[in-house]
Amino acid sequence: MKSFTRIVFVTGLLSIMLMGQWAIEPQIEVRIDELLAKMTFAEKVGQMTQLSGTNARYEEMVRNGEIGSLFNVIGAKETNRVQKIAVTESRLGIPLIFGLDVIHGYRTIFPIPLASSASWDTALIRKASVIAAQEAGSEGIRWSFAPMVDIARDPRWGRIAEGAGEDPFLGSAMARAQVLGFQGENLSDPLTLMACPKHYVAYGAAEGGRDYNTADLSERTLREIYFPPFEAAVRAGAGSVMSAFNEISGIPASANEFTLRGILKGEWNFNGLVVSDWNSITEVIQHGIAADKLEAAVKSLNAGVDMDMQGGCYTPALEPLVTNGTLSIDLINDAVRRILRLKFRLGLFDHPYVNENLHKEIILNPEHIQTALELARESIVLLKNEKSILPLDSKRIKRIALIGPLADDQQSLLGCWQCMGRREDVVSIRNGLKNRLGGNIVIDYAQGCEINSDNKGGFKKAQQAASQADVVIMVMGEHANMSGEGHSRSNLNLPGVQPELVSAVAESGKPVILILINGRPLTLADVEPQVAAIVESWQLGIQHGNAVADVLLGNYNPSGKLTASFPYTVGQVPIYYNHKNTGRPPAGGVESLNSKYIDCPSVPLYPFGFGLSYTTFKYANLKLSSEAIPVDGKLVVSVQVQNTGKRDGVEVVQLYLRDLVASVTRPVKELKGFQRIALKAGETKTVEFTLTKEQFSFVGIDHKMTVEPGELQVMIKDLEQSFWIKD
Ligand code: BGC
Repeated sequence: MKSFTRIVFVTGLLSIMLMGQWAIEPQIEVRIDELLAKMTFAEKVGQMTQLSGTNARYEEMVRNGEIGSLFNVIGAKETNRVQKIAVTESRLGIPLIFGLDVIHGYRTIFPIPLASSASWDTALIRKASVIAAQEAGSEGIRWSFAPMVDIARDPRWGRIAEGAGEDPFLGSAMARAQVLGFQGENLSDPLTLMACPKHYVAYGAAEGGRDYNTADLSERTLREIYFPPFEAAVRAGAGSVMSAFNEISGIPASANEFTLRGILKGEWNFNGLVVSDWNSITEVIQHGIAADKLEAAVKSLNAGVDMDMQGGCYTPALEPLVTNGTLSIDLINDAVRRILRLKFRLGLFDHPYVNENLHKEIILNPEHIQTALELARESIVLLKNEKSILPLDSKRIKRIALIGPLADDQQSLLGCWQCMGRREDVVSIRNGLKNRLGGNIVIDYAQGCEINSDNKGGFKKAQQAASQADVVIMVMGEHANMSGEGHSRSNLNLPGVQPELVSAVAESGKPVILILINGRPLTLADVEPQVAAIVESWQLGIQHGNAVADVLLGNYNPSGKLTASFPYTVGQVPIYYNHKNTGRPPAGGVESLNSKYIDCPSVPLYPFGFGLSYTTFKYANLKLSSEAIPVDGKLVVSVQVQNTGKRDGVEVVQLYLRDLVASVTRPVKELKGFQRIALKAGETKTVEFTLTKEQFSFVGIDHKMTVEPGELQVMIKDLEQSFWIKD
């Protein structure tokens, strides 16, 4: 037992030097040694147990040292009350750590992650995470089960709403921003949250987009696509990682030695703690690799899951397995060490309680609301704007018909994971328009239909409103509970009779502006030709209505770019921009034998990276610092971007690479850099990217990162240039 402890300690110390993640602190390890020496087996597995909520039975367990963490315990008074039991009534006084799903805000609800990723604004996303941590921390929550960094290439999967979309490079940047925001400068600050990137791993690769379904993936795809955001989060110092529900090629993620012990704790030297997902250890029984909870526990412990969320598999019943040699006590000690290490790092031993008045000045303060507005505006993506109908000319418009089942809705705008968000905090689109228009224009509201029903009873009133209006604004899409966990769809159209309502209203001949509220890419091929403009507004949180009104009226020039492709039809799914070329890339007519559909395009309707602005940008002078660089060399890429329109605007400059010939096939393009730049009307800026081996390397034939000599292409917008990497 001792020798293992020492090995863990020594490798931990080594990792300070090897990795960019947080350092092991020797004085903390000594305190852990002291505690471990005093703990009974039952107290050890107690630390490894996490349960949701609280009640008399759980509190008795806390008293007995049988629980290490509770989640979903709400309110400063309540967390303090339960913490007091742990600290003053349990034998060793080890504090609890309180967790919660603080996914896109605590009480100040920000846009859902799929939306905020469309801002490509890592600094603002980091700021929103700081705010979420302050609000949650002020009520005693110190652990957020976020960020969700699962890559999602399938919009049928409802949890696409919770992540940053389809790209590993952007996903890694978003993961880093959120971890740094949640955890702050110093995790012992009570207004920080320990981050928990999830769901490790390949959860988003569920077959058919059906939540919890099997993922069957090569090691290459894991390494190229699904691992990178997790690795980025770990390198940014994430204190914990959550293991997923799904199986990965035959082994459930929560009992997967390769991904957990091999990659996460091995290759990446992760010294934080791994928590299971809700009951996911017990569920390995359903998966069919364990006969009972004990066997499930042993498999998950061997794999490296340190804490059991809600499953109750880590219990004193495991002790005889240690005695008979089936289970190593070293694994238990290592798990407890990781848990205690985090509790020390969070400062819970020194300040276990929260100031019960603090939350009053922190929660929903004006700066938080302002940040929610800014992030909401930046998350909006303008998909269509025929004849520049937007922004609306409020001087010429007298009457607006505001139609649709989401036009006056507040609840749906909070999205999935509403946390402490409240309906009454939310500005609906109807109210946002009223706020910004201030009574000068008549707004004629008609619901038209429900979100998901076949009742057309409201069509007539909607058509009447449209026929009397100068312009029609239709607010359509999904209810918040149509995406998120366990809410996959097989059809990506606007639900219910909404498409028919669009057609019925469009018959009026009045220009229709479609505002979408949704938690995933939708298929819009049928409605797109019937409307003049499409504004993708996702679920933007408490400031949704104001942000949309600002975009409609031109107070804010939209700058969002999609982070997940919008297919023409669900039959194209999975569809993503960084696909391989195949031996027969799509070209030629319907009769030619190549990789295409005979009944729809092979590209999406709106691709990754797409989004319009009220101004136009011209790209020119793509320059590379060199035509050839050595394998460890760097390349400076510059490009001129000019705002050629009449309005100030923000452009997201995106740099893609393609490796033309390599030892393994490479995607047709891969994002390797991006910058948000603000340009005044007429202004030109030169944007520079420095590329190094981090951008040139890929997962080689031996599954190790490698840079190979050869020709690569740099692509920015419609410009492209080649360069060589030389031996
Ligand atoms: C979800 C996780 C979440 C956990 C705790 C699970 O059902 O998959 O994302 O963190 O519940 O609420």
